[in-house]
Amino acid sequence: MNIVSPSLLAADAGKLEREIISIQVFGAHWAHIDVMDGHFVPNLGFSPSITAMLRKSVNIPFDVHLMTSDPMKWIPVFKDAGADIISFHIEAVDDPMPLIDYMLANGIKPCIALKPATPAESVFPYLSKLFMVLAMTVEPGFGGQKFMPEMLPKIESLRKEIERQGLQTHIQVDGGIDGITCSQCAKAGADVLVAGSFFFKSYNRNAVIKTLKNAE
Ligand code: DX5
Ligand code: ZN
Repeated sequence: MNIVSPSLLAADAGKLEREIISIQVFGAHWAHIDVMDGHFVPNLGFSPSITAMLRKSVNIPFDVHLMTSDPMKWIPVFKDAGADIISFHIEAVDDPMPLIDYMLANGIKPCIALKPATPAESVFPYLSKLFMVLAMTVEPGFGGQKFMPEMLPKIESLRKEIERQGLQTHIQVDGGIDGITCSQCAKAGADVLVAGSFFFKSYNRNAVIKTLKNAE
């Protein structure tokens, strides 16, 4: 079974508390929270205070996706806001190791995110220390974009290297995941599926979660 992490970016912002509760009620595993700084990507996302407010409404893990410059500045802030898992973009740092070590020492599950143009190999030296690799399947910044099928070989090579090293590292995909692309990603080796529009814009959220969990 895949891990499912609905992205709150596509939720009804006027009913955020109800929306995050629906993630838990429909049986998704994690809540995906997009953080953007208007600099690393041309958009703004969720703040630490909204994250901390939402933390009181559910007990599923918070999967925080930092799309920011200087991610080290935000890791402690979102840790205090209740993050369990934090992804930072490798393109935003010179050396990922201090960030990974900080997270491991502070009870946060460390993840590295890759933009579409960043090769799989860039994360290979860090795989053994990572909880997860996030392979973006759209350009980061906005929900509702079209899935990039040219990312599938990258997911395959990540899975191959994780197996070659004998690791359990998760592979998360984020962007344009729907009832068709979820299977393509699962076949390629992804085991954590983020879905914004597919979950929040659906009239049958129960069916969406089932589809994503069972995609293969
Ligand atoms: C995009 C965000 C995604 C986004 C996905 O930069 O990282 O998490 O919300 O939205 P959908 O699933 O609608 O493509
Ligand atoms: Zn995201």
